[in-house]
Amino acid sequence: MDKLDFGLVKIGKEIDEKLLSFLKKNKITQKRLIDAFIYSIIGSGKRIRAYLLVEAFRLFGNMKFYDDALNIAASLELIHTYSLIHDDLPSMDNSLLRRGKKTCHIKYDEATAILLGDGLQSLAFEIITDNELTLDDRTKVNICNKLAQAIGFKGMVAGQMMDLISEGRYDKFIPDKKFIIQTQRLKTGALIDFSLQVGGIIGGAKKSELEILSDFGKRIGLAFQIVDDILDATSNEEDLGKTADLDSKQGKVNFVTLLGLEKSRKKVEDLIFQSKSELEKFSVNTENLMKIAEFVETRKN
Ligand code: IPE
Ligand code: IPE
Ligand code: MG
Ligand code: MG
Ligand code: MG
Repeated sequence: MDKLDFGLVKIGKEIDEKLLSFLKKNKITQKRLIDAFIYSIIGSGKRIRAYLLVEAFRLFGNMKFYDDALNIAASLELIHTYSLIHDDLPSMDNSLLRRGKKTCHIKYDEATAILLGDGLQSLAFEIITDNELTLDDRTKVNICNKLAQAIGFKGMVAGQMMDLISEGRYDKFIPDKKFIIQTQRLKTGALIDFSLQVGGIIGGAKKSELEILSDFGKRIGLAFQIVDDILDATSNEEDLGKTADLDSKQGKVNFVTLLGLEKSRKKVEDLIFQSKSELEKFSVNTENLMKIAEFVETRKN
């Protein structure tokens, strides 16, 4: 197992433990929601956002807040999973398979999937502001404020709306490259960028260091979604663990459907090269982040 595989497996286990502890502590009263929570989030997902947070945090060597970092990393995975559950709904991407299993609304029903997503999102903010976290209150408020921006009307929600608009389902609209880049940045890039930022914030990064993390995050965030679009067009359900070949069928305009596979691959290559150059600005060891940048380019699911 190489170092990155090992790192992702390790963080995956730590995140699962945290998520189960949230469940225990939060005492969700409805069994149907507990079942759907476990089904949708435990033991699956690559945990890339959690890994990025923890590895950005580690750069600054301040391990005092490691447990807080893990709690917040698990909260980001709650948010990310909520976004996937809603993204898969019939009114959004209408997808049947996720993380190698039936999507939440197929296994349960749409109402449960909507409510589970809503609950996952609220729980994330509850965890970050919990008294058990030792970070000071100002830092917690700062993190919640930035997270809300990354996933709301200035971030993921806006990007998801643009993604649906690109299908032409509301008006005849022909998106250009600029619109597509903005869509990708908002729907996927914003949370990836934030994962790195928050790792830096908890680790005590200086403003200039946060800027480097953000420049790195913006590039791998965009590359991550272009690779997702390439895999949608070229891979299969078995390897992906999710429904494949959906984007062109739904008339979505993304990098691949607009510019083709070759230009998309070239764009990913350029972005990964640039993202690694950003990391070279740090004087500390960035090997794990370098590896994850390479993984974003070469991943198969
Ligand atoms: C899938 O994200 C959705 C996108 C933002 C492209 P991931 O590929 O990180 O999904 P999981 O968490 O591993 O299932
Ligand atoms: C999803 O993008 C982005 C978010 C969930 C915010 P996609 O719709 O391309 O993700 P997949 O392919 O369903 O995982
Ligand atoms: Mg989508
Ligand atoms: Mg989708
Ligand atoms: Mg996709």
